[in-house]
Amino acid sequence: MKRVLFVASEAVPFIKTGGLADVVGSLPKCFDKEEYDVRVIIPKYMCMKDEWKNQMKYLGHFYMDLSWRSQYVGILEMEYDGVQFYFIDNEYYFAGPKPYGNIYEDIEKFAFFSKAALSALPVIDFRPDIVHCHDWQTGLVPVFLKDRFHEGEFFAHMKSVITIHNLKFQGIWDMKTVKDITGLPAYYFTPDKLEAYGDANYLKGGIVYADAITTVSKTYAEEIKTPFYGEKLDGLMRARANSLRGIVNGIDYEEYNPKTDQYLEKNYDIETWRKEKNKNKLALQRELGLEEDKKAMMIGIVSRLTDQKGFDLIAYVMDELCQDAVQLVVLGTGEEKYENMFRHFDWKYSHKVSANIFYSEALSHKIYGACDAFLMPSLFEPCGLSQLMSLRYGTLPIVRETGGLKDTVEPYNEYENTGTGFSFSNYNAHEMLNTIRYAEKIYYDKKRDWNKIVDRAMAADFSWNASAAQYKEMYDWLIEG
Ligand code: ADP
Ligand code: GLC
Repeated sequence: MKRVLFVASEAVPFIKTGGLADVVGSLPKCFDKEEYDVRVIIPKYMCMKDEWKNQMKYLGHFYMDLSWRSQYVGILEMEYDGVQFYFIDNEYYFAGPKPYGNIYEDIEKFAFFSKAALSALPVIDFRPDIVHCHDWQTGLVPVFLKDRFHEGEFFAHMKSVITIHNLKFQGIWDMKTVKDITGLPAYYFTPDKLEAYGDANYLKGGIVYADAITTVSKTYAEEIKTPFYGEKLDGLMRARANSLRGIVNGIDYEEYNPKTDQYLEKNYDIETWRKEKNKNKLALQRELGLEEDKKAMMIGIVSRLTDQKGFDLIAYVMDELCQDAVQLVVLGTGEEKYENMFRHFDWKYSHKVSANIFYSEALSHKIYGACDAFLMPSLFEPCGLSQLMSLRYGTLPIVRETGGLKDTVEPYNEYENTGTGFSFSNYNAHEMLNTIRYAEKIYYDKKRDWNKIVDRAMAADFSWNASAAQYKEMYDWLIEG
């Protein structure tokens, strides 16, 4: 039996702020249980729903040194959907209304979590062959593994992997404080290790010390070796190129299935969508107070409202777009300037634009199910899951050709009759608008062609199967090596 431990800061269904949670919650169950024992460890945040907290069982606790501090580490456990989850409990670090808050608090929080996750293993009595870390929050795990832990027999042969879900967030703070928090010796704080541009950098530590590095699409794996996408670590990414691979994300095909989705007004599949999908549109128009017209082209957005997602482009041409025969449904929270921009257009064009500035699992599913197209013009996108959910629901993605968007959405080619969506290449507002208008033209004037694109979109396979096989291959290679 090969043993793998996922260490991460979020996982569905327990806690989610973005796609990271979807990946950490859905990938582990896709490995063959006869061959792989994949478990997950995340913090127990006080802001988790009672529904989950009440089901967790206490497994044990101990006190751990974090430099001069001695901190309580509680361990809870719960099996969910056939996967064993562990939760690190500490009410000082994991209080608060959200998993992340001020960076200076998060820096200590995740140093604690990274060390606690490793320290808990002998207590749990689980000895993984591979510790698979995700993003900056767990960047110190490979460092601690090499430093504090490698001497004992228990940890000696453990390998580590780090997956970069977003290179923009690195966990950067001044070296003096990070030395004090982690208790790591000065040896680690040089530019070839944790130091980057005079500060300590958690993600860099992970990238330097992990045995293998992955990111969530092939194109992003290439992009981050260039200055534009490299977030000042492109040199390091080039230096580690031999250990870096891109494995595209999948989505949970049970959770995101238009045939069984509980949130939809009307379920449908690749056979029945022509008749049924529109009923979801009508229901959503009614729910949101939009003009009830099943023929109107409805474009959806479900997203964190940040620069990453290309909202500058949308803001720039929003007034123009609203002149077209389209409806726009937005669900998201984030930067105030974008929240207010959508609120403004909702007020100005109330029968055409619906701005829903909050988080809702239910509404997100309804949007994937009801809309005709899904807009995602990202500035950069490591993978993106929303466009995969859209494809699965026959809602055609309109995307910029970057990162995972480029790898997962095949642009419509009217001469060859191929493609699953629409795309443009330059980060330019009118290039985006032209692409949206091209999609409108196909939707209104060439309905049969549009329908065939939907057929192809729904037939595309973005379940975890193929990607889980690539992770397996990497785990096997590390274990054998
Ligand atoms: P990222 O991780 O960069 O935010 P992804 O496309 O990988 O982008 O994943 C985003 C996930 O978060 C998707 O599952 C999407 O449906 C969900 N999501 C984003 N904003 C909201 C929201 N306001 N309400 C519900 N789900 C949301
Ligand atoms: C990050 C990226 C997103 C990716 C997700 C899961 O949040 O922004 O593109 O899909 O992680 O890997």
